[in-house]
Amino acid sequence: MTKAEIQQVKLRFGIIGNNEALMRAIDIAIQVAPTDLSVLITGESGVGKESFPQIIHQYSRRKHGQYIAVNCGAIPEGTIDSELFGHEKGAFTGAIGERKGYFGEADGGTIFLDEVGELPMPTQARLLRVLETGEFIKVGSSKVEKTNVRIVAATNVNLTQAIADGRFREDLYYRLNTVPIQVPALRERGEDVVLLFRKFASDFAEKYRMPAIQLTEDAKQLLLAYSWPGNVRQLKNITEQISIIETNREINASILKNYLPEQNNAQRLPALFGVKNESKSFESEREILYQVLFDMRQDVTELKKLVHEIMTERAAVGSPAVTPAAYYTPAPAVVASVPAAVPTIIHPSVKPAPAMDDDIQDTEEYVEESLSLDEVEKEMIRKALERHHGKRKSAAKDLNISERTLYRKIKEYGLD
Ligand SMILES: Nc1ncnc2c1ncn2[C@@H]1O[C@H](COP(=O)(O)OP(=O)(O)OP(=O)(O)O)[C@@H](O)[C@H]1O
Ligand SMILES: [Mg+2]
Repeated sequence: MTKAEIQQVKLRFGIIGNNEALMRAIDIAIQVAPTDLSVLITGESGVGKESFPQIIHQYSRRKHGQYIAVNCGAIPEGTIDSELFGHEKGAFTGAIGERKGYFGEADGGTIFLDEVGELPMPTQARLLRVLETGEFIKVGSSKVEKTNVRIVAATNVNLTQAIADGRFREDLYYRLNTVPIQVPALRERGEDVVLLFRKFASDFAEKYRMPAIQLTEDAKQLLLAYSWPGNVRQLKNITEQISIIETNREINASILKNYLPEQNNAQRLPALFGVKNESKSFESEREILYQVLFDMRQDVTELKKLVHEIMTERAAVGSPAVTPAAYYTPAPAVVASVPAAVPTIIHPSVKPAPAMDDDIQDTEEYVEESLSLDEVEKEMIRKALERHHGKRKSAAKDLNISERTLYRKIKEYGLD
């Protein structure tokens, strides 16, 4: 494939950047397109994986066939088999009519399985079969059907890890990964970040009918040095934010800095990044919530202690007593009841030892009553849905949980 040919593909699919690894990824996509080999596209979230299955489909002999993109993480576990493979009439409660399923519909075409790492185990078994033999069976049927479908899959999670954890079938992994395509992270693409910024700035200028924002030299350096955990998606979002918010169209490093989340946040909250496994990410979210609760509790305890000390001091020097009776507990008892060290992460089932002092007991009850974890979780989910105008995909992304988990939580809390 010549450079000019790759350039043409980039133009057609709106891909910006000249990075070597990116060009190579596009090259492989075009080379593999005319074959029927399965392709697995890997890369961090927001690197631009979605263009690749489209390139592959368009440059294949299947281009006049169906192209179906399926977000495996967004379909509830209970219906995923029937969505993918179809069902017979009456196969389960609610299966009023018969359904063809994507594998039946895409016969002669391409199916893009996005977030393939989220597929439940039973579905993985069905998928393996269709990959190996072209055969599948509808839910509730015993008739074997045939289909001729090309599979392109994508994931931003480490499937090797998922295999080690027993969440992904190794045989399926090898079957999908016949041709691997790795899309590089934005931080590895050097000057591309500046090109992308310029492109997005000019797009948003057009969209909002105002002059395009421009970067000063020091801002460019900051763009190049930043780690971009959310990759191109993050760059696009902040370019839009700046385009709308900043009245001065020249953006220097100190303005730009306001839009870049602190990089060491990623180190402070490692569990929130890169963890896609739903139960795990929820657990870590819980851990962080607990951490926040315990920090708060400690703060309140310390505040109370401080107030108490001030009050006893005042009482000792005989200043007019405005002190409520509750504060007249002996100081040593209070100090003794303050835990020496608050554990950083506490398992949800382990309740901290109750403080001996009534006063502090109050505090604990107050914190626990007003901020039960489920309440916090529900509130977080409600707010995220509100922020994203009910769009579950974006809300799930925002909360760093899978769409399936979000779906389950919405049901659980009756938020729908
Ligand atoms: N090279 C690029 N040039 C122009 N736009 C890009 C490029 N790469 C990504 N984008 C844009 O960035 C956004 C994110 O890309 P995309 O949705 O393909 O990410 P992804 O790799 O599928 O992420 P995830 O794993 O989170 O699904 C999209 O709006 C896409 O158009
Ligand atoms: Mg994607």
